[in-house]
Amino acid sequence: MSGRMLQFQLTRCFVVALTMLAGMSEKNAVGHDPVAAPHGKAYQSMFPEPTAVLATDVPDRILVSWTDSPDRSFSVTWRSLKSPDAVAEFAPATDGPEFTKNIQRVAADTAPLATNLGQVHMHAATFSDLEPNTLYVYRVGNKRTVSLPSGDAKGVEQHTRDYAWSEWIHVRTAAPFEGEVTPARFVYFGDAQNDLKSHWSRVVREAFRDAPKMTFMLHAGDLVNRGNRDEEWGQWFHAGDFLLSSIPQLAIPGNHEYDVDPANKSNGRSLSTRWPLRFEFAQNGPKGSSENIFYVDVQGIRLIGLDSNIDPKSQAVWLEEVLKNNPNRWTIVTHHHPIHSTSRGRDNAGLRDAWQPLYDKYGVDLVLQGHDHSYGRTAPLERNETSGKQVVREQTGTVYVVSVSGPKQYSLKDYEEAEENPFESRGEDLQLYQVIDVTHDRISYQAKTATGRLYDQFEIIKADDGEKKFVSPEETPAE
Ligand SMILES: [Fe+2]
Repeated sequence: MSGRMLQFQLTRCFVVALTMLAGMSEKNAVGHDPVAAPHGKAYQSMFPEPTAVLATDVPDRILVSWTDSPDRSFSVTWRSLKSPDAVAEFAPATDGPEFTKNIQRVAADTAPLATNLGQVHMHAATFSDLEPNTLYVYRVGNKRTVSLPSGDAKGVEQHTRDYAWSEWIHVRTAAPFEGEVTPARFVYFGDAQNDLKSHWSRVVREAFRDAPKMTFMLHAGDLVNRGNRDEEWGQWFHAGDFLLSSIPQLAIPGNHEYDVDPANKSNGRSLSTRWPLRFEFAQNGPKGSSENIFYVDVQGIRLIGLDSNIDPKSQAVWLEEVLKNNPNRWTIVTHHHPIHSTSRGRDNAGLRDAWQPLYDKYGVDLVLQGHDHSYGRTAPLERNETSGKQVVREQTGTVYVVSVSGPKQYSLKDYEEAEENPFESRGEDLQLYQVIDVTHDRISYQAKTATGRLYDQFEIIKADDGEKKFVSPEETPAE
């Protein structure tokens, strides 16, 4: 090929390449313009993609809760694949890394858990004799079943060679209660249940942005859709991530934590064997309970968790004792199925008959519930035992809340007679979280939507003699 011909060919190639590039860039520009991607329904019921499903030696799905006095102790659970030797370490937190010179180690209790995705091990450890209202660091570790490569093992301390560890995690112990309430703030979630990674994550994370110094989180049942499906718990942990290991968690089971166990199908639907391994709650419930019924006293609040999936009458005797012998300033009860239902065809008369008389008798302040996939909040109610009607009694009554934090939504119930509607505030097609502040003289409640928008609020003010005053939304000062 002559020099002139070569130059011509090269020029042609260059022009062709430029034309192609120009065409591509034009095509890409079109491709970058947003186009409508319509989704058939707001609640997508997505396939629960496995999230961190494969357990290893490295601790994961770490969760902090209270087994004992929240001002003196906290407990932690986590999982690993094998690791018969699991340990946890703790120390008071310091401004720099020197807390590591003051570490104490405790052994964990370990139990195997058969899941639909294979066997893992669950571990639980409790840190006790702590100082109240103090920031601690802790970490959890599993003895390695796979040794570090010899090159990597050089230059690391023995405890790192021997154990795979979590990060150091901060947890603050609660303040003591000696008659005066130290302000506490907690966040309550109705059913998360569905599309946990896709749709619940933004709610729990917005709640954290809103109330980062919260004392605890409370889940009123149906944390997942199928209590024995490991990938759903993986999604729950993906959504909550480090919040679940650094903010004490309280929860009671919903109907979806009652599930057929793939390792024990003959049992039928029963409380997931995972529940008492996953959560370390006080074992102070009625005989035979499995951390599904308990109470905990935190900063002058007695928080009582009931299991509305099982016979309510059998829990009433225990409930009355716990309500009667209660030195706390405030009483908050949580269970999954509501005493007053917000959605159609979901009345729970048995619960109302068994438990509301006790709430009335002992002046329970607040009942936090889920299950109906819509929102409702009453004024302080009591039941007139003669007529059976709900009446507003500001000074002594109980405020009932039904809420939902996940994306699954049901329609509100229609009332034939307006006076039959016990709710002061109701809503549907909402994902909500509640920020609840408790001080010595008041409970301040705010329901917020997934975007952090204030949706509903009220206050309960309590005098020293125990008489209450209810401040409704119109009177409650806006943010
Ligand atoms: Fe439910």
